[in-house]
This record gives sequence, structure tokens and C-alpha cells, in this order.
Amino acid sequence: MFIQLWHEGAIRKEGGVGAYSKFPTICPSGLVKAGRPSGTPATPEDLESIKDAFVRGALAAREMGADGVEIHACHGYLLDQFLWAETNRRTDGYGGDAIEDRVRFPAEVVAAVRRAVGADFLMSIRLSQWKEIDFAAKIVRGPDELRMMLNALREAGVDLFHISTRRFHQPEWPGSDLGFAGWTRLLGRAPVITVGSVGLELDVMESFAGKEVEPKVEQGLAKLVRRFANHEFDLVAAGRSNISDPQWVKKVREGRYSDIHIFKKEHLGTQEFDNMAYVADAFREHMEAMQLQYKTEI
Ligand SMILES: Cc1cc2nc3c(=O)[nH]c(=O)nc-3n(C[C@H](O)[C@H](O)[C@H](O)COP(=O)(O)O)c2cc1C
Repeated sequence: MFIQLWHEGAIRKEGGVGAYSKFPTICPSGLVKAGRPSGTPATPEDLESIKDAFVRGALAAREMGADGVEIHACHGYLLDQFLWAETNRRTDGYGGDAIEDRVRFPAEVVAAVRRAVGADFLMSIRLSQWKEIDFAAKIVRGPDELRMMLNALREAGVDLFHISTRRFHQPEWPGSDLGFAGWTRLLGRAPVITVGSVGLELDVMESFAGKEVEPKVEQGLAKLVRRFANHEFDLVAAGRSNISDPQWVKKVREGRYSDIHIFKKEHLGTQEFDNMAYVADAFREHMEAMQLQYKTEI
């Protein structure tokens, strides 16, 4: 079990009501995307206090008994705003056109967490090219920039790369069939999780918009198996499928594709809390099964 540590940066709207309404919105350059101002650029003191907050979160996760933490650096939230040239126009060595500079603050967060938790506590980092605010965004323009970014994060102490795409099976750059996870696996020198429309035709943002299409679960999973056999990733994450059908893993394992309840927007909200209890039960069952298998293998 990993706990994800998360800061919204410029995506957060200032004001409103509630416990945090008086706090400012802090981000790299006061932008949520080019031409869209939001929040205030972080001062050097703000950067230190954000790092401290990640460290406190990681220590709390360890104290709770988590196996690791995941640093959220994707989808257009704070650390991703540092990685993306469009939202990071800083001139203090933490931003601008070079990925070596834009990765500096996320890598410092990783290093600070690693120093605090020690060598044995696992740390994943979740990365994406796409943002909720811009599906076509790119934090890295090609394999060389990707290698630089991954090296910096790896040297700072990351154990695992969690690569979020809207669709896991889309090739990332012309001239190769490799997806973004596959490229990360090739260049990152660490295990990789893939995520994004596993067993689903629509991506998460299309689902949230209420779209529905004919499911093709078996064909979708065949694409996953082909890429897994090609060593493009080590682990697979499935989000919506486990929300709409807590028995999803079991049904996939047994090949019962037509029994799967395909995710629809209405699975969030009214059914969400009931389903979450089912997910927790199903998860516990899987963990117990895996534990047995693990012991047997030893
Ligand atoms: C209700 C809901 C909440 C989510 N919350 C988070 C989150 O807190 N952090 C995160 O990194 N991704 C979050 N996501 C994105 C999922 O982790 C996942 O990347 C996305 O749903 C794509 O996977 P899928 O195609 O298997 O659903 C959320 C998705 C859903 C549907």
C-alpha cells in the first residue's frame, strides 16, 4: 500500500470556504497554462516549506504502516507545473527551457523525502505528458530529455516510475511503437507502472464528460499483454475499472470479459461510497491471496 502525496499548485482556486480558504495558491510562475494566470510564484522560502510538507507527509505515511509513498508529479498539478515549460518560466535555476532546470525542484522533493525515510522505504513518482488542462502537452520532447529527467529523479532516490497516459497503448514518438511507459522502462533504470484506459475504450476525461461506447475489453487487454511481453512495464494500474467493478481483477483472471461492469460516469457520486467499500474488500482479498503466493514461493 502506497500513499500518494499531492499538491495542486496553480490548479487550486483561491478563496472559497473551508479550512484552507485563506491560504494562497502557490505555483512555479503564476500560470496554470500559457496565458492563464493563477496563483503566486513560489519564493525560495515557499519552496523549502513545500519540501518540508512532502517530507512530513511521507513520514506520516510510514508511521501509518504504508509500504511506500508516491510523489504526484503529473496531470498538471504542482510538481508537473515545474516539469512543464509552459507553466515554469522561472529564471532562478528551477525553470525555463531546459528540462535539467525544470526537474530540479521535483528532484529536490524526492531527495528530501529519501533523506527523511531512509533507503528501505519505497518511493514511486507519478509522471505524465498530458494535463487535465491540455491533453497534447509535453514535459519532454524526446528520448534525450526523458533520459535526463529520469536520471535526475532516479539519482534523487526514486524506486519506481508510475507513467500515466490517457491510453497506455499509444506510441509516444514517431519511429517507434513504444508508449511513454515503454520509453521510461528503456531509459529509466527502474521498474515502471503503466496506467491509462486498461480494458477501456474511453479515457478518464472522456468518461468524466459522460461519453459511452461499445466495450472491447478482450481486444484492449490483448494490447496490454503484447506490450507486457515486450517488457514495456512491470506493473499495471487500473482505476475506473476497479471502481465500476470490484471483481474486475478476478473476472479478467478468469476470462469472464462479458460479465465486467464497464465504467460509466454515474459510478461516481451516488454509488461511489458503496463501491469504495467493495473495492477495499476486494483489495484485501487480493492482498491475502498474493501474500499466500509469496510465502509459497519462498
Ligand atoms: C474518481 C477518480 C479519482 C482519481 N484521483 C486521482 C488521484 O488522486 N491521483 C492520481 O494520480 N490520479 C487520480 N485519478 C486518475 C487515476 O489514477 C488513473 O490514472 C485514471 O483513472 C486512468 O486510469 P483508468 O483508465 O484505469 O481509469 C483518479 C481517477 C478517478 C476516476
